[in-house]
Amino acid sequence: MSDLVLSTSELRRDYHMGDDVVHAVRGVSLEIARGEYVAIVGPSGCGKSTMLNLLGGIDRPTSGAVTIDGARVDRMSDRESTRFRLHHLGFVFQRFYLMPALTALENIELPMAEAKVSRGERVARARELLAYVGLDARVEHRPAQLSGGEQQRVAIARALANRPRVLFADEPTGELDAHTGTEMIALLEQVNRDGTTIVVVTHDDVLAQAARRVVHMRDGVVIDDRMATR
Ligand SMILES: Nc1ncnc2c1ncn2[C@@H]1O[C@H](COP(=O)(O)OP(=O)(O)O)[C@@H](O)[C@H]1O
Ligand SMILES: [Mg+2]
Repeated sequence: MSDLVLSTSELRRDYHMGDDVVHAVRGVSLEIARGEYVAIVGPSGCGKSTMLNLLGGIDRPTSGAVTIDGARVDRMSDRESTRFRLHHLGFVFQRFYLMPALTALENIELPMAEAKVSRGERVARARELLAYVGLDARVEHRPAQLSGGEQQRVAIARALANRPRVLFADEPTGELDAHTGTEMIALLEQVNRDGTTIVVVTHDDVLAQAARRVVHMRDGVVIDDRMATR
């Protein structure tokens, strides 16, 4: 048996807009083993971001369960899920969301500071992570002084700071040109090779092809789920 890190059963998410209901996710059951690299793909509006937010405990399902390493993420209070995400999950988004007033190093230190890691330890780890993502020459740069690709590298380093059990990424190449996007894909592959489970949501075919497993969504359901043949 493979070592399960994340599972969902009959996951649903309805959005209520006045009298209308949008069934964004309509009964998704998924199992992800530790060490996997999974891409969730499909056309715009098919429910990818909703899925990712449910998997990572950012949003709560209308019904169904999300379990990460035995913990029922869907049943956590806001406070519990914030804490769980800080210690056990990493997130990368299309728009990076770095803190503009902080340097690259300080941005990476932030989740460690929140997790009460000592200053010495977090500076050392933040430096190590900056080197890991190829930005050892950008320690003191603020986000506005970095290119889009560099900002996304800092965001990936920040997401790895507390050694997450799963790294979630929503359209991580969405704001990047093709060349920079390719570099990002290589970096995510490296992160996965080095042991981190990755779930990425994208409509970028090149990014999807780098994943070991591709889950196709359409209208809120999974229509195909297969391992890459390479
Ligand atoms: N906060 C929200 N309120 C209402 N409807 C939403 C909300 N977020 C997403 N939706 C709707 O749910 C569906 C799935 O959206 P989303 O998960 O963002 O798709 P994708 O990421 O695949 O483009 C879409 O029809 C979208 O309009
Ligand atoms: Mg989306």
